[in-house]
Amino acid sequence: MTAGPSLYRRHRPRTFADVVGQEHVVRTLRNAVEQGKVHHAYLFVGSRGTGKTSMAKMLAACLNCEHGPTVEPCGRCESCVAIANATSLDVIEMDAASNNSVDDIRELRESVQFAPVSGRSKVYILDEAHMLSSQAWNAFLKTLEEPPPHTIFVLATTEAQKVLPTVVDRCHRFDFARPTVEQIATVVTRVAAAESIEIAPDALVYVADREVMRLRVFRQDGTPVREIQMRNPVCGLYIDSHQQLWIATGADGQFMKLDWNGNVLGYGGRRGTGVGETNEAHMLAVAPNGDVYVADSVGRRVLKFASP
Ligand SMILES: Nc1ncnc2c1ncn2[C@@H]1O[C@H](COP(=O)(O)OP(=O)(O)O)[C@@H](O)[C@H]1O
Ligand SMILES: [Mg+2]
Ligand SMILES: [Zn+2]
Repeated sequence: MTAGPSLYRRHRPRTFADVVGQEHVVRTLRNAVEQGKVHHAYLFVGSRGTGKTSMAKMLAACLNCEHGPTVEPCGRCESCVAIANATSLDVIEMDAASNNSVDDIRELRESVQFAPVSGRSKVYILDEAHMLSSQAWNAFLKTLEEPPPHTIFVLATTEAQKVLPTVVDRCHRFDFARPTVEQIATVVTRVAAAESIEIAPDALVYVADREVMRLRVFRQDGTPVREIQMRNPVCGLYIDSHQQLWIATGADGQFMKLDWNGNVLGYGGRRGTGVGETNEAHMLAVAPNGDVYVADSVGRRVLKFASP
């Protein structure tokens, strides 16, 4: 399979129609774009991988698509492509975890004064918003409250309770729900189809629950098959070149070996397992809930990868 952007980026939903679940967010944002009533500050709250960044970029594309403002950004114009590739000068993604000083905020405040290059909207996506210090927020409150025209802030956080109430109050808040297994299966099926990977109808869906260190195995209709308690949080799920399924767990670099029925075969270190040689394209880690999952057939090799 060809190298290129990761599955994660390649299959980021680009239009509202691609979003699975999160109906209330989609409905409200659609209406806002259609009626030209987009708020100047949003707070997106939800677990990792529920679609916060995707939604923020989508909103930016709706506003800045050359054929817009539109609720169906074309995905092909210069602006849409730049937003998808994170090179748009008008869509600024900032990680508050590493840019949380008062100086960073001062810089941000200065940048906000410049009009959008496209002449349309300037969208600031502030990830991990709870990581900003209160001094930093205080330096920023005024800007957040009354930004220059055509400036939109999207704050994203996994921990809303750690964001200053004065900040939350100034934002239109959306809570992103964790997807159901059926919704995860929908995404798996779509990605598999787009990647020419064949998934048998009886394939299992693996859902790695980081927070409770648990791996859940389901059929595609959502029927639970089994649960495996993990010793460490799951951080990755791989299929190696021998079609062996491995779960990578936690900081100790340990890998758990599973058969395709979801049975634990044993544990192994990174070295000598073949995981290091894993073709990244064999990893079906699209993770709508920030977790990692894969689908394959029960006990048989039915995943067909496109020829290299
Ligand atoms: N609601 C969703 N519908 C479809 N795919 C989703 C959804 N949420 C997440 N994904 C998938 O998960 C990936 C990560 O989503 P992302 O928007 O970066 O989540 P977050 O910013 O909340 O951590 C996306 O590229 C996409 O493939
Ligand atoms: Mg994100
Ligand atoms: Zn476009």
